[in-house]
Amino acid sequence: MYYPEELIEEVRQKNDIVDVISGYVGLQKKGSNYMCCCPFHGEKTPSFSVNRSRQIYKCFGCGEGGNVLTFVMKYENCTFPEALKILADKAGVALPQMEYSEEAKRRESRRQRLLAVNKEAATFYYYQLRTQRGAKAQEYLDKRGLSEETKKSFGLGYAPSRGEELLVYLRKKGFTDDLIRDAGLAKTDERRGTTTQFWNRVMYPIQDINHRVIGFGGRIMGDSDSGPKYLNSPETEIFDKSRNLYGMNYARASRSGNIILCEGYMDVISLHQAGFTQAAASLGTAFTPGQAGLIRKYTKDVLLAYDSDGAGVKAALRALRILRDAGMSGKVINMAPYKDPDEFIKNLGQDAFQERIDNAENAFLFEIRMLERDFNMEDPEEKTNFHNQIARRLCEFGEDVERENYLTAVAEKYHIGFDNLRKLVVNTAARTGGYAAAPERPHSGIQSRSRNTPEEKAKKLQRLLLTWLTDYPQLYFKIKAYISPEDFTDALYSRVAERMFEDIEKNRLNPAGIINMFEDEKQQSEAASLFTTKLPELETEAEREKAFRDIVLGVKNNSYEQYLARSGVDITALSKVVEGKKALEELGKMHISFN
Ligand code: CTP
Ligand code: MN
Repeated sequence: MYYPEELIEEVRQKNDIVDVISGYVGLQKKGSNYMCCCPFHGEKTPSFSVNRSRQIYKCFGCGEGGNVLTFVMKYENCTFPEALKILADKAGVALPQMEYSEEAKRRESRRQRLLAVNKEAATFYYYQLRTQRGAKAQEYLDKRGLSEETKKSFGLGYAPSRGEELLVYLRKKGFTDDLIRDAGLAKTDERRGTTTQFWNRVMYPIQDINHRVIGFGGRIMGDSDSGPKYLNSPETEIFDKSRNLYGMNYARASRSGNIILCEGYMDVISLHQAGFTQAAASLGTAFTPGQAGLIRKYTKDVLLAYDSDGAGVKAALRALRILRDAGMSGKVINMAPYKDPDEFIKNLGQDAFQERIDNAENAFLFEIRMLERDFNMEDPEEKTNFHNQIARRLCEFGEDVERENYLTAVAEKYHIGFDNLRKLVVNTAARTGGYAAAPERPHSGIQSRSRNTPEEKAKKLQRLLLTWLTDYPQLYFKIKAYISPEDFTDALYSRVAERMFEDIEKNRLNPAGIINMFEDEKQQSEAASLFTTKLPELETEAEREKAFRDIVLGVKNNSYEQYLARSGVDITALSKVVEGKKALEELGKMHISFN
């Protein structure tokens, strides 16, 4: 981190978490918390909770949690310094320019140089297309129906047959061979020395959302040449294929309210030319969660315009899952009888495509329709299997109304008796343990941990203790003689406990500030879970006192067991354990009042 901790704290304190999160999602007050559906995973009933007094948020569905800075990082899909900047601007706090470390400055200037060499290469290709040598490429693009304006706005170019020319040009501009290579524009091998990556190809510069060229796609002209149809820049320090989309620099500014996701560069270009400026495509690789996150900053509605062939369907099914996991809504545009949007537009035009957009198929119904292809409906057994599969998928809807609606739709469409299908769904639900709640993400904090190992049980007690102390800091003074940070067996827990105890002593407990001790998002989330574990709901004072004492005892007991397991049975260990046992007995008898 390159900013002083006090400054980060100032920015954080000047941005009330409820106000900030309300700016992104609709929050509703429930008791002392504010709730909504979690923006980080798909769910239908709210389990995302924001707490004003602690200044932290937590999703009990997916385990995501943190403070206002973590939230902005996650939601905006940005880095810590970027989140800090957003919040500092909001609160009118000036961030010093000079706080970048030497290391950060070096990295930044290297990024700048990599961007500069890409930009220069794009200029070179752009110019080549407009020379005599580029005539064949021009002809190719014209034949594909691209206007001059379209070529210009996408910065299309041509890489000449003699690749060395780009090198000569870039060297003259002052770029070193190392940098040219690191930008993915050239390769070096022993036999041929340094050679360029692209030659005799039409060039499609790939831009990030800020219109900066970060890589290229190059296409051979015609179909039958040797070599791959498209060649792309390799991933580099500035070209992360999983977090960028072709055409997104324009699509994000489109007023359509949705994004049309395609497979190919040419699809994007054709769609934009036909007025569908919300089109974007992944970069020669499958759609990723990082790309979903990028789109989600602008809209949650995504229309898939994938190829109509088998590979396209498979890719679409995958993309729909990713969108669903990101809490976004996906629909599928039917391209039949054409292969892809480019061909569709060329043959049927803009209005027909708009019609297809209006009639895009809902993700669930598309999935079921594709599923149907795997079964032979003439065979009774396969037909039953198909119906079972439908029932299983219907069970995934957590909300009754939604499940019933789809049930009606599917029963009608596939001529299944409504009552029969309903019975099947109920049976399936009973067999698999009820209707699935919101899907859990595999990497999500506390939810995915296996819950019943002794280690996990111990950690749960430690979390409960810290949450309890967050709610009743004065209890700390009653237990401080017995509990120390070392009793927390997990390194992260121990660090949090140490800081928390220190803060309570100084009467300035500040959970959201403690989260800032950690830079890693996962750690922040984990730290947040220490203040937000669900406490048992207890009626009487006596019940609470007993529960709390049991937790303290449990934590201490476990700590001794761990200690013993680690140190064997030498003399000091023994005496420590004897001492500890005594402390435990004392604690067991102690009356811990909450007042
Ligand atoms: N692609 C690639 N390498 C290949 C083939 C395809 O990187 N050898 C990527 C490109 O990003 C391409 C996308 O996959 O845009 C879709 O491929 P495809 O549908 O075959 O190409 P189109 O975009 O339809 O290309 P064109 O219309 O120019 O044939
Ligand atoms: Mn195509």
